[in-house]
Amino acid sequence: MIQYVEGQQLFHLTTPGTSYICALADGEWLGHLYYGSKLADTTGMESAFRLNEFPYSPKVNERDKVRFMQVFPFEYSFLGTGDYRESCLSVENEHGQSGVELKYVSHEIIPGKIVPAELPHTRGEEGCCDTLDILMRDDVLGLEVHLMYTVYRDLDVIVKSARIINSSDAPRTLTRVLSGQLNARPDFAQVLTLHGSWGRERTITRQNLETGSVSAESIRGVSSAEDSPFLAVLSRETTQTAGEIWGMSLVYSGNFLAKAQIDQVGQLRGVIGIHPEGFSWPLAPGEAFQSPEAVLVYSDSGIGGMTRTFHDLYREHLIEKRWLTQDRPVLVNNWEATMMNFDTDILIGFAKSAKEAGIDMLVMDDGWFGHRDDDTSSLGDWFVDEKKLKGGLKRLVDEVNAMGLKFGLWVEPEMICEDSELFRAHPDWRFQLSGRKPGALRQQYVLDITRPEVWEGVYSQIKAVLSSAPISYVKWDMNRYLSDVGSLEREPGCQGQLLHRYVLALYRMQAQLLEDFPELLLENCSSGGARFDAGMLFYSPQIWTSDDTDAIERLSIQEGTALVFPVSTMGAHVSVSPNQQTGREVPFNTRAKVAMAGTFGYELDIRNMDPEEKAQIPGQVALFRKIHPVNREGDYYRIASFRENHSYDCWMVVQKDRSLAYMTYVQVLAAPNRPGIRVRMQGLDPDAVYEVNCDYQGAMAARNGEMSIGPETSQSVGRFHGDTLMKAGIIVPRVRGDYQALLYEVRRV
Ligand code: GLA
Repeated sequence: MIQYVEGQQLFHLTTPGTSYICALADGEWLGHLYYGSKLADTTGMESAFRLNEFPYSPKVNERDKVRFMQVFPFEYSFLGTGDYRESCLSVENEHGQSGVELKYVSHEIIPGKIVPAELPHTRGEEGCCDTLDILMRDDVLGLEVHLMYTVYRDLDVIVKSARIINSSDAPRTLTRVLSGQLNARPDFAQVLTLHGSWGRERTITRQNLETGSVSAESIRGVSSAEDSPFLAVLSRETTQTAGEIWGMSLVYSGNFLAKAQIDQVGQLRGVIGIHPEGFSWPLAPGEAFQSPEAVLVYSDSGIGGMTRTFHDLYREHLIEKRWLTQDRPVLVNNWEATMMNFDTDILIGFAKSAKEAGIDMLVMDDGWFGHRDDDTSSLGDWFVDEKKLKGGLKRLVDEVNAMGLKFGLWVEPEMICEDSELFRAHPDWRFQLSGRKPGALRQQYVLDITRPEVWEGVYSQIKAVLSSAPISYVKWDMNRYLSDVGSLEREPGCQGQLLHRYVLALYRMQAQLLEDFPELLLENCSSGGARFDAGMLFYSPQIWTSDDTDAIERLSIQEGTALVFPVSTMGAHVSVSPNQQTGREVPFNTRAKVAMAGTFGYELDIRNMDPEEKAQIPGQVALFRKIHPVNREGDYYRIASFRENHSYDCWMVVQKDRSLAYMTYVQVLAAPNRPGIRVRMQGLDPDAVYEVNCDYQGAMAARNGEMSIGPETSQSVGRFHGDTLMKAGIIVPRVRGDYQALLYEVRRV
């Protein structure tokens, strides 16, 4: 609900559990007053501006302006006129001078939401949300700023964005437009970010914020494996299940900045939006610029509370709705098994074995087009290599379909290799800086898809391939970061638009693809998980989480990813042991249980497997089909983290009606002379009785009090009250050996 309290010139935004309050100071400056647990009333709130208190602004009517600007808790801050903190907006006038001053003009409250043009966004289905549109103005610049706040009625979420309009008759240049601010008030602030690298994406980092700032950022052209467009501020005491946390997540896939900063008087400001580095956007008279959306979530029930709110929002209002309830196919992908060395016969062999094992879909990965036998050639030539696919793509797909399997295809539309027909015809289509040869990465270059002829040239090829055969799924890859971002075509003043325009062109291409092929399941990917963000989830309900398929490595990658993103979005496959990336040997059972935490599939040579392991696949697929609906629609709880305890990892998914839950426990490192571990479940109905089953072959294999795990067997652990399972917990037995996984089914009786 959005309320304007006239007498206080104050906005009170409420969700089921939160209040967000901002108000006018001196009738013109829009400042932030409160974001936290829901308040019944706002009486007296203005005093939080402390305009009479030193060092804020001691002289109310005659104060020094800059003294005020440098400490006032602006709602949407601006640079150049006295606010020295990390700010949202910076604008140059026609003389090249920077300085903004935004003052309140008016506001409007509308049911539903205003959709940001050209950008992915949280959806505002009828009756689910309301929007506050506050109009701010800089009279000197003739600049209007619409601050948009979409408030969800059933979720503790506020979505912010800003729309900047040049209403003057002179040119302006935007050099920084962030999406929004977070003014949080934790005691002893800490910051959570998701940091990483290729193969180690989204590892949770928690650090103190005493002075200065902590940030997560990317200037790589994509959201990146190194940092994720997310940042949360929390108290030192906050745990998974208790305490305050404020999270911000950006619905965007390009350069971003997320920063939390403590100012000189101890106030905390968070900002999130497009990274100002390399960004410069000329705005002619009458033109507008729309920022991406920033999602703010507050929880007073711990980190897990924030996580589940993000999951609900992204599943219900960001990802295309049908994927909330539609089963995702279990797939087999040939990449790790064959790399680019495959042909029709090999793939038919994969399909046959996959069919026997109960798998739904075969995905043909990189290497089917141009003359791509290794990564030195052919990106840009999206036509079938008939030497490999004898008889063409349709013949292969028809044959796979005839076996009862769907077919999926890998593409990497944004790229070009020098050794390609496309490059020979259009050497100027890649990004390049005048007088400088662009640098290769993985032997490839980035196409300037901001140019209409390049966009069309690539998209028409992709469309033709997908029209040539019944293709159910596309894995859209992107295997390098952007460099040499220049266009020989554009005006000098417009080069600073390229990075953002690139992201918009990408969004346009994925939107077009889904319009042309409405049944398609799209999975995004970027050298593994380098573009796992809320922007891409608008188009694809699942994203390849990491090229690191080692189940033990995946524990922390998946834990970090699931901090913000629904588990049903995490592409996860069972691959060979020893693992290709790490050489680690992990039991087949554990590899499967870890992959079942996300969308499920196999990425190994299914034709030539150990027969005992192969025989387990139908059981694993059947088990996944049981867990999958709970993963997809239920609540996720992080029970324990190997990253923190160095011993075991544990998570749970609970159906929304709390009648069914699955808990996965991975004993990472075995230890001698140690009793079983007490694990307290979460999210159950305290008053209900549950039957708990586990897949250990307890008595049969007990040895010195240890258990060993048997495939596909399930044994009753007993009946317990939900209350007991959550407060007293259950004892997970000590299992023999490292890297062992147990799955508990918890079913209400
Ligand atoms: C990336 C992807 C892999 C695979 C290769 C193909 O690294 O993450 O899964 O598709 O590209 O080149």
